[in-house]
Amino acid sequence: MLKSINPSQTQAWSELGQHAEAMRATTIKDLFDGDADRFNKYSLQFQDILFDYSKNLINDETLSKLLALAEQTELKQAIAAMFAGDKINATENRAVLHTALRNRSNSEVLVDGENVMPLVNAELAKMKAFCEKVHSGAWTGYTGKAITDVVNIGIGGSDLGPVMVTESLKSNWDKGITPHFVSNVDGTHIVEILKNVDPETTLFLIASKTFTTQETMTNAHSARDWFINAAGDEAHVAKHFAALSTNKDAVVDFGIDAANMFEFWDWVGGRYSLWSAIGLSIALTIGYDRFEEILQGAHEVDLHLQQADFSENVPVLMALLGIWYGNFFDADSEAILPYDQYMHRFAAYFQQGNMESNGKYVTRDGDVVNYQTGPIIWGEPGTNGQHAFYQLIHQGTKLIPCDFLAPANSKNPIGDHHPKLLANFFAQTEALAFGKNKEQVEAEFAAAGKSAADVADLVPHKVFEGNRPTNSILFKEMTPATLGRLIALYEHKIFVQGVIWNIYSFDQWGVELGKQLASKILPELDGAEDISSHDSSTNGLINTYKAWRK
Ligand code: F6P
Repeated sequence: MLKSINPSQTQAWSELGQHAEAMRATTIKDLFDGDADRFNKYSLQFQDILFDYSKNLINDETLSKLLALAEQTELKQAIAAMFAGDKINATENRAVLHTALRNRSNSEVLVDGENVMPLVNAELAKMKAFCEKVHSGAWTGYTGKAITDVVNIGIGGSDLGPVMVTESLKSNWDKGITPHFVSNVDGTHIVEILKNVDPETTLFLIASKTFTTQETMTNAHSARDWFINAAGDEAHVAKHFAALSTNKDAVVDFGIDAANMFEFWDWVGGRYSLWSAIGLSIALTIGYDRFEEILQGAHEVDLHLQQADFSENVPVLMALLGIWYGNFFDADSEAILPYDQYMHRFAAYFQQGNMESNGKYVTRDGDVVNYQTGPIIWGEPGTNGQHAFYQLIHQGTKLIPCDFLAPANSKNPIGDHHPKLLANFFAQTEALAFGKNKEQVEAEFAAAGKSAADVADLVPHKVFEGNRPTNSILFKEMTPATLGRLIALYEHKIFVQGVIWNIYSFDQWGVELGKQLASKILPELDGAEDISSHDSSTNGLINTYKAWRK
């Protein structure tokens, strides 16, 4: 159990409040003007990743107060508790051990007194053997042909991780397998995917921790019907369906051979499960060895979180910076902006990771918080975002701290695309931090031969205040290990923030009410009679739908 400490009652919190007032009087530009060594001071290199946090509105005093907050909320103890297998997910009475799935040092990890590493290793060995059979062509479909397509059917954490990782590592798709992902219960999703695959050469992975999720089970049944319709015999299901789950009974009930089940455990949260059997679509697509490299990269970050001093601890610093803006500067959202087209689902992945984890208003004591918790996470790859929403980041009325991520080397180094891409990355963080003042705008007009009187009305529109904080995360090149590191950094950022905010980051009760109401409404959609069991709006919507449907 984690201790319940209200962060807003700590000495550090009140000092941070006062300090934030003082910092409002300065700017990022002032801070750079006053310290030529600022980049060296406020950047860290972890393996092949450079984390530059110098373009933030912080100084040494800010950092020492933020670090004091981490200490006063007993972060160190919470980290130890998580890795030790304590049931820190108290509302579900579960340990939180996605870190055990990637524990490449194979040191003992105890859950209820049992070392879980033999279970983890056995499942990884099973995944490896399965990948080898599929890749070698030893595993064939019902007509003897090798598997060419894998359709992962899952949603939320059983979908977003595999989608994001396979896309980020698309340059490693060299195993002859094309992955596809079906998540939405909207029939359009599965229908469109099934148009592109051949039942003889397709393997379906039914990915669901609980194996009860409505969307996934509905899609799984439709896929099974489609397959049996083509194959003509239910017996062929065994060669074309595997399950990734914690729920063996439900898997067997569905008709999937227990031998084709890849297991994980209740101490793996759905949105932290890509490291488990849920990652099978990843291993099949890029090869098992590369999947292990992803685990290795994440493991390095797990060690870093536990061992590095907090002042040099990348995920801890990422978390503290988020708290600085969210709690002391009223920032409601954070943008994640990868300058890597392959990472186009990275922000979406951490939208779930962060918002489902830290979107909580109740403390570990069951009280309502008196401070802000999890931010709204959003983002798109650069440079597309620049031509869409950056206007608001530069000149809007909202403070939006941004993370810029980019590889120094492109997987597709054609012409001068990559220097152009990175020039934009560097330019954006510079523009956001330093802006352009009135004098600069006027000087530009003067240089273009315009008189001050003629352009006076335009000047205010062309001024950039700057002082918009960013982190820059530059890595050498996208490799499986690098991606593992990046994901684990963000995962631990979320964990650290949840500890400090005194909330439970590993449950998700907030998604239940909608599910309950949907299952109540579903039978009401049968028949033609009007419904009157809800509020007038819901009744009106249901009855209009019934009247309009064909
Ligand atoms: O949306 C709620 C949720 O429970 C997520 O946390 C989870 O990732 C998703 O549903 C899918 O759950 P399952 O893997 O059990 O199908």
